[in-house]
Amino acid sequence: MDKIVIRGGHSLKGAVKISGSKNSALPILAATLLTRERCVIQRVPDLSDVHYMLQILAHLGADVERASGIVTVQAEKVDSVAPYEIVRKMRASVCALGPLLGREKEATVSLPGGCVIGDRPIDLHLRGFQALGAAVRVHGGNVKVFAPSLHGAIISLKGKFGTTVLGTDNIMMAAVLAEGTTVIEDAACEPEVVDLANFLNKMGAKIEGAGTSRIVIEGVKELHGAEHEVIPDRIEAGTFLIAGAIAGREVIVNRVRADHLTSVTDALQSCGFRVSGTNGSLTIRPNGTSKSLNLKTQAYPGFPTDMQAQMCALLSTVSGESTVTENIFPQRFMHVSELKRMGAAIELDGATARIRGVDNLSGAPVMASDLRASAALVLAGLLADGTTEINRVYHIDRGYEMIDEKLGELGAEIERVKV
Ligand code: EPZ
Repeated sequence: MDKIVIRGGHSLKGAVKISGSKNSALPILAATLLTRERCVIQRVPDLSDVHYMLQILAHLGADVERASGIVTVQAEKVDSVAPYEIVRKMRASVCALGPLLGREKEATVSLPGGCVIGDRPIDLHLRGFQALGAAVRVHGGNVKVFAPSLHGAIISLKGKFGTTVLGTDNIMMAAVLAEGTTVIEDAACEPEVVDLANFLNKMGAKIEGAGTSRIVIEGVKELHGAEHEVIPDRIEAGTFLIAGAIAGREVIVNRVRADHLTSVTDALQSCGFRVSGTNGSLTIRPNGTSKSLNLKTQAYPGFPTDMQAQMCALLSTVSGESTVTENIFPQRFMHVSELKRMGAAIELDGATARIRGVDNLSGAPVMASDLRASAALVLAGLLADGTTEINRVYHIDRGYEMIDEKLGELGAEIERVKV
């Protein structure tokens, strides 16, 4: 088990290149199960979550090859049962259900267990499958969905906390091979959903409206192989923009889709940083005194919940009182207690963090609890006086490719230490 050690106080300067998107690569890799033909996916990030997905595909019978960011999958034959041992490691395994149901008309995946960021049911996914004509059985910790055939339907994915990203992906992947037309209403509009729809359309699917809350899918008989390049990771890009804000003189984030980050760059400009650039490259610089901010997380194109923890780390050092309200995963504040150990002044009030900016943070041994919380601790460590030791960094390796090396190239004093 590794830990990351950071000696704070070094200002960052230079350029960083963004990897392919984790949250796009995972459902796209699952979608390769929808055809017997060969699929080639480029710019697949080297992350533990991607490894788990490739293990699931191989376990289901697909031939999987991987070479420096290019993954080739051919699922000539597939089994329809995804194993608990692998599925329990990664919630996104649930998006194997849609393609297996679409192709084999049956799928069994273990029910995702508890998650530190909060309650994460899949009732909306299952409701969608039932509308397409599938029966759902939950038994022995597994969910089985099956149907003699699937037919088009009108499906609303509106839930207690709004829509669902992987639910939209799953229903899209099941509906592409259903008889007739499916309309998904209240669909998620995330760029990762659009990227998946673009890949499916390259495979011969007929999907319109991805990126809007109404997606129309006309079922086809079968899909063929295709090649696709995954979009840049907007959350990794946002994390490096905040690294530039928290400890930078001038940080250039390359290979980025600026249009996917508007809510993040708007927030950074509102609290006093200068962000410039267009698609391809964004530059962040300090712009005099920073200002406090009131922020709410929302579904895309609103401020992403996956950037909330990182923003808490930044606002801990911005003068004045800021508030951060988490509307998607109301309990997603595991990072707060660890930031307080570093001297941050944060009070939780239900799903809102009240943050009073402090002049200094101090380095400390801290514990990562989940992917984005660990990124927030790394960001705080960049600015903190002294040394910060972040334990359980396997969390960060789930979603950030070589974060320590990339920050090192920007001038951070950071190393990964075997424990
Ligand atoms: C995706 O998770 C992302 N994961 C998450 O990123 C991200 O936080 C989340 O979308 C929201 O943007 C991947 O893409 C692999 P949801 P997903 O279903 O699809 C509730 C990261 O850090 N809900 O959109 O699982 C749910 O509890 C990860 O990279 C239901 O009630 O999230 C939540 O409150 C963490 N019933 C809300 O909807 C359902 O059936 C949104 O969840 C499904 C969801």
